[in-house]
Amino acid sequence: MKNLKYCSPSTLIIIFIHINILVTSCLTRAEEFDTVIKLPRSGLRRTRSRWVLSVGDYGAEGDGVHNDTEAFLEAWNVACSLPGFINVVFPYGKTFLVHPVDIGGPCRSKITLRISGTIVAPPDPAMWHGLNQRKWLYFHGVNHLTVDGGGRINGMGHEWWDRSCKTNSTNPCHPAPTALTFHRCKDLKVRNLMLLNSQQMHMSFTNCMRVVASRLKVLAPAFSPNTDGIHISATKGVEIKDSVIKTGDDCISIVRNSSRIWIRNISCGPGHGISIGSLGKSKKWEKVQNVIIDGAYLYNTDNGLRIKTWQGGSGFASKITFQNVLMENVSNPIIIDQYYCDSPHSCRNETSAVRVENISFIDIQGTSATDEAIKFACSDASPCEGLYLENIFLASCFGGNTSSFCWQAHGSARGFLYPPTCFPSSDDDFIRQNVLLESNDANPAIHSV
Ligand SMILES: *[C@@H]1O[C@H](CO)[C@@H](O)[C@H](O)[C@H]1NC(C)=O
Ligand SMILES: *[C@@H]1O[C@H](CO)[C@@H](O)[C@H](O)[C@H]1NC(C)=O
Ligand SMILES: *[C@@H]1O[C@H](CO)[C@@H](O)[C@H](O)[C@H]1NC(C)=O
Ligand SMILES: *[C@@H]1O[C@H](CO)[C@@H](O)[C@H](O)[C@H]1NC(C)=O
Ligand SMILES: *[C@@H]1O[C@H](CO)[C@@H](O)[C@H](O)[C@H]1NC(C)=O
Ligand SMILES: *[C@@H]1O[C@H](CO)[C@@H](O)[C@H](O)[C@H]1NC(C)=O
Ligand SMILES: *[C@@H]1O[C@H](CO)[C@@H](O)[C@H](O)[C@H]1NC(C)=O
Ligand SMILES: *[C@@H]1O[C@H](CO)[C@@H](O)[C@H](O)[C@H]1NC(C)=O
Repeated sequence: MKNLKYCSPSTLIIIFIHINILVTSCLTRAEEFDTVIKLPRSGLRRTRSRWVLSVGDYGAEGDGVHNDTEAFLEAWNVACSLPGFINVVFPYGKTFLVHPVDIGGPCRSKITLRISGTIVAPPDPAMWHGLNQRKWLYFHGVNHLTVDGGGRINGMGHEWWDRSCKTNSTNPCHPAPTALTFHRCKDLKVRNLMLLNSQQMHMSFTNCMRVVASRLKVLAPAFSPNTDGIHISATKGVEIKDSVIKTGDDCISIVRNSSRIWIRNISCGPGHGISIGSLGKSKKWEKVQNVIIDGAYLYNTDNGLRIKTWQGGSGFASKITFQNVLMENVSNPIIIDQYYCDSPHSCRNETSAVRVENISFIDIQGTSATDEAIKFACSDASPCEGLYLENIFLASCFGGNTSSFCWQAHGSARGFLYPPTCFPSSDDDFIRQNVLLESNDANPAIHSV
């Protein structure tokens, strides 16, 4: 029993994050009280700097029962056709039921969707009958969009989760909606929102350029299937920061041809950690590169920092740095898996693979829920090159030693390293390392925090 304390929550960190969220949401409420001058009839109002229109003026009732989809679309279409800066507001204190909807651009204006109230999805999957099962709120071709407002977007996903084949294998496997998709967008900002209980993924950027996501809270139960927090696909230039993600799948996943991704100050868990991939499924060519994850706290997650590729693919996962990461009770804290096979059938060994090159793990500390704290299962066809480890301390939750597994993995290491790595260490910290380990045997977790 004494070992359990190694993996108990860091109450201080949680309280710290909590207080900060309360403070930010108070600030944004205050910002909303702009001086508003109402114009007759049109529903358009003007503040000091921009036009404002409320979905209420287009027939939205905000009672959580009435179908407010048409009102949203009308308000959007008006906003989209005008020049200048326009706010489309979902007012505070109301709940807007919005059915699956496609919101298209390009727009003449630069729109801010100010969601201060709550947008909810219909809870019944039957409402998607005859519609694309992968979409709920689907934005496409919109440039210079900002979504903020301190409100909530609730996917009401329980019924979808119950029907998932991951929940009960006797269920047939069907797709389920991504709550919020941004497709072919440029210069998007999403900030200061709570996304919860999505049907499947919470938010996805596909084929976008220049995205900033910040001050988000993404929440779904640990058991909810495939509820990734933020999914990045074929997108270039993404910054994700100052956010808390607790879901049933990857906190952040990065796939297809994506690059220039910068992630910092993220709290993640429960969930499946931060994933690059899966890449190379069905022999695809994919390239994810120039990714920096700097500053993350991972707690009770199924994986920590992960790169996963299917056999038989091609392309690259390269120039990826994970640094300043604190982990608690994380299974597979550091893992590269080039034999990924999320399929009921086992996968054949193939003669090609997505190449994994120039990947760094720097200043990674905390506790592992598995003995194998570092796992590099690289491909026979295309071994991992240029892996680099520096200042790693991953102790076991259960008091024993942790270890590294390496297969076809090539790289180097320096600084303090525990578990011992398979790579030659470029400096002579070996003695220092052993001394420290012995003196901290009694409580490695506290040493690491
Ligand atoms: C809700 O409104 C939208 C937009 O008018 C419409 O397409 C949809 O069919 C409506 N759904 C229901 C269940 O009434
Ligand atoms: C899965 O679904 C089947 C058929 O509906 C049901 O009999 C079974 O009890 C379910 N299993 C679980 C674990 O919920
Ligand atoms: C980190 O993110 C939290 C929200 O999760 C925020 O409250 C805090 O201010 C951020 N820290 C820094 C240094 O920006
Ligand atoms: C990635 O980009 C390459 C080259 O532009 C293209 O051939 C490939 O199909 C893309 N892969 C995916 C999954 O979109
Ligand atoms: C460790 O994480 C697992 C989920 O991965 C959770 O079930 C378990 O309760 C956690 N242990 C502690 C001591 O928090
Ligand atoms: C595939 O390759 C791995 C690593 O060399 C090996 O452990 C495994 O047995 C192989 N699987 C099959 C089905 O040949
Ligand atoms: C990895 O780094 C080496 C040395 O800097 C460089 O030559 C190589 O092109 C890099 N590989 C990729 C895929 O970026
Ligand atoms: C951990 O490793 C050290 C050094 O190799 C060894 O002396 C010690 O007995 C190991 N502890 C356990 C619990 O296996």
